[in-house]
Amino acid sequence: MISQELNDSLTRVGPGSDTGEVLRRYWQPAALSDELMGARPVAPVRLLGEDLVLFRDTEGQLGLIGRHCPHRGADMCFGRLEDNGLRCPFHGWHFDRSGQCVEQPGEPEGSRMHEQVKSTAYPVVERNGIIWAYMGPGDPPAFPNFDCFRAPGSHVFAFKGLWNCNWLQALEVGIDPAHASFLHRFLQDEDPADSYGKQFRDNAADSGIPITKVLRDYPRPDINVDETDYGLRLTALRHLDGGQTHVRVTNQIFPQAICIPMSRDMTITQWHVPVDDTTCYWYSMFTSFTDPVDKVLMREQRLKEHRLPDYAPLKGAHNNYGYDPEEQAGETYTGMGMDINVHDQWAVESMGAIQDRTQEHLGKTDVAIIRYRRMLRAAIAAVKDGHGGDLPMWGEVDPATLVGPVSNDAIADDGALETATETADTQRRAACPWDAHV
Ligand code: FES
Ligand SMILES: [Fe+2]
Repeated sequence: MISQELNDSLTRVGPGSDTGEVLRRYWQPAALSDELMGARPVAPVRLLGEDLVLFRDTEGQLGLIGRHCPHRGADMCFGRLEDNGLRCPFHGWHFDRSGQCVEQPGEPEGSRMHEQVKSTAYPVVERNGIIWAYMGPGDPPAFPNFDCFRAPGSHVFAFKGLWNCNWLQALEVGIDPAHASFLHRFLQDEDPADSYGKQFRDNAADSGIPITKVLRDYPRPDINVDETDYGLRLTALRHLDGGQTHVRVTNQIFPQAICIPMSRDMTITQWHVPVDDTTCYWYSMFTSFTDPVDKVLMREQRLKEHRLPDYAPLKGAHNNYGYDPEEQAGETYTGMGMDINVHDQWAVESMGAIQDRTQEHLGKTDVAIIRYRRMLRAAIAAVKDGHGGDLPMWGEVDPATLVGPVSNDAIADDGALETATETADTQRRAACPWDAHV
């Protein structure tokens, strides 16, 4: 357990807050590219407790500016998208994508007041289905050369979903390899042939053993955590009968992403992005190392579980997450259906809006959570001391040299644990149609 003061420091994200200042030094997912695909490419964005509006101007360039008009605060989301910018409908003040006011049509002829008026504005770029914003000081950092950014657009599918809780508890479920043996337990094994686009339904490595069965039958993993240039590498070992070990390698990418294997063909890189202190989005990039991703199918699968435009899940506290005690008795550990996102959502939302960590009791399998909080505390201290260059992926390490990260399921003969993941990963990368070498 930690003190209330530390819990506040690690969880709050507004401008000037400890963690908010760390998160602002990294590119943050602001929207899916899909959200600007309609006839009027304007979308409200609430990110790190700030209200913004995202738009695409006549030149096709993106702008992310303050949601409230600098004149008298009207909502720019209702703005007129015209003249290569966004015009406030209240008095017609016009802003370009840099947030500069370029015209005040009701002010006296020849007035130059607009030159002094600027809205908040943040740099934005689009990468493989996600629009990213940089809300920190100075120039934004370069993107790391991770698989999800390096793969061509045809091989990456992006989606998001809203969770009603603080971002940190959402992230912490992703660096907790033990929970999958319980929370996501399926009491029956599904045919792995029907596994496309779903997690934990494939066979473990090439073993012919469904991963569900491995997780279910071996619930006490040994978990090793190594520090890396990008964050943490987690290795969960499940010692099977017959002298073999299931090795699952996952990653924490600082400050708030994870990278995990989804199946033999795909990885998931997932950001937990604070909307504000008590709401967050998960943004996932599904990266295929074999065929192009079937985006239509993957989107359809997920839209069945979410509503637009806010990507709120259809299951939630309002309908008990679809909880069915009969299903819990015979089919799933939770009784909340087969979609593992719903299981995770229940786990993190049911803790309360911001988990009260003064009351928790961390066990040995929570080792990555402990290590992660230590890393975040060090980053907070570095920013406070004016040493922002000491943060992961700032300073000496060139983000362009950061590849992978390796995330894989493998079955190893005991004694060959070190090489099993590497071999599985090398095979996958060698056969990949895009340049995935590391
Ligand atoms: S409030 Fe926007 S132009 Fe007046
Ligand atoms: Fe999970």
